Amino acid sequence: MSNLRDKHVVLGVTGGIACYKSADLASKAAQEGARVDVILTSAALKFISPLTFTAVTGRRAWTDMYTPDEAGRFPHVTHSRQADLIVIAPATANTIAKLAHGLADNLLTATVLDSRAPLLLAPAMETHMWEHPATQENVRALKERGVHFVGPEAGHLASGAEGVGRLAEVPTILGAMRYVLGLNGPLRGRKVVITAGGTREPIDPVRFITNPSTGKMGVALAEAARDLGATTVLVHAPLQVPVPYGVRGVSILTAQDMFDAVMAEVEDADVFIAAAAVADFRPARRAEHKVKKEGREGLVLELERTPDILGTVGERRQETGRPLVLVGFAAETENPVEAARAKLARKNLDIIIANDVTAADAGFAADTNRVVYIDREGRVEPWPLMSKAEVAERIIARVVEFGLLTKP
Ligand code: PMT
Repeated sequence: MSNLRDKHVVLGVTGGIACYKSADLASKAAQEGARVDVILTSAALKFISPLTFTAVTGRRAWTDMYTPDEAGRFPHVTHSRQADLIVIAPATANTIAKLAHGLADNLLTATVLDSRAPLLLAPAMETHMWEHPATQENVRALKERGVHFVGPEAGHLASGAEGVGRLAEVPTILGAMRYVLGLNGPLRGRKVVITAGGTREPIDPVRFITNPSTGKMGVALAEAARDLGATTVLVHAPLQVPVPYGVRGVSILTAQDMFDAVMAEVEDADVFIAAAAVADFRPARRAEHKVKKEGREGLVLELERTPDILGTVGERRQETGRPLVLVGFAAETENPVEAARAKLARKNLDIIIANDVTAADAGFAADTNRVVYIDREGRVEPWPLMSKAEVAERIIARVVEFGLLTKP
């Protein structure tokens, strides 16, 4: 369940062509369960109608500071006091400047000035406007006051130019909203390190051994940890999904790279979750040049073992006591529960998630997963088919329950 559920979000829409994307943002936030009240500036009204937002949120969209609501209250006060989060997307250079200087000349800026809710800005403008020292000075001042920013991104702009100034993509803005809403969650102040993706073990400069992992499971776990306020680090092999907003990505290729990166990150971690599909074997030698096929009937590769990342973290934990909670996955094609239990004991884990990777709707690459939750207290729970996001939320909830918060 998204942490947007039952939250009151005020979405400010200011006057830029990117505001056509705000309708999608409002719709997606409402679909995740947020109560979305939209405030449009007069410049935004030149691009998009309030009716569009009413249609996707099921709620009145607001434009005028001087028209009281049905209860006779002025809307800037109602919105400012009720909001759990104010997000402005797109945020123009003009509105950013007004906010930096405390202006309250329209319903949106008056709402922001009156509110103590966290504020998230998604700027969109031409590159020259974004890079102008005045805008940069305003952004710096707002950041110093604790205002959050998402984007702008580089790419095609409405003028036809290429450059920095594009509104961040809607999923990225939603991720940023969830990040901001989660900042005071139960994992606040805790560091969670997660691995994701399939490692690549080079044979020569153009070939490697890998597996079908997309990183979706690990990324979902990173989002779930972030949404509860954790400082989240994702050590990842190549991914088919982006590193989420608010998560620090550490990009690696081989099992050895992942081992080195994880060992550097787990020293001060509270939780380590190994969702990556790490190669167990790698070519014993990497050819310096492309291996030629001419004159060969076949090719025999000698393979050697890779370091066991999770096993090493489990071993070291016996001496250091950290990380406090250790979670592994077991990708199996036969007897998943038995095999997973053996791994839980061998690698000194608290929790292991047995993943039967033979089903089309579970395991590698699917958006859903069907797993068995097993922990060192003897609980064995087959969970039903769920989205990977739901599986991740349940795992993180168990991590929280596991007594982590009672330990220093
Ligand atoms: O990325 P997706 O497409 O979303 O797919 C998700 C997934 C199927 C990859 C994921 O749900 C999963 O099951 N990951 C674990 C895959 C795996 O390598 O399982 P294993 O049984 O071989 O390894 C057991 C555990 O040891 C795993 O936590 C693994 O990350 C870890 N390991 C394995 C080998 C190694 N050298 N070092 C390790 O740390």
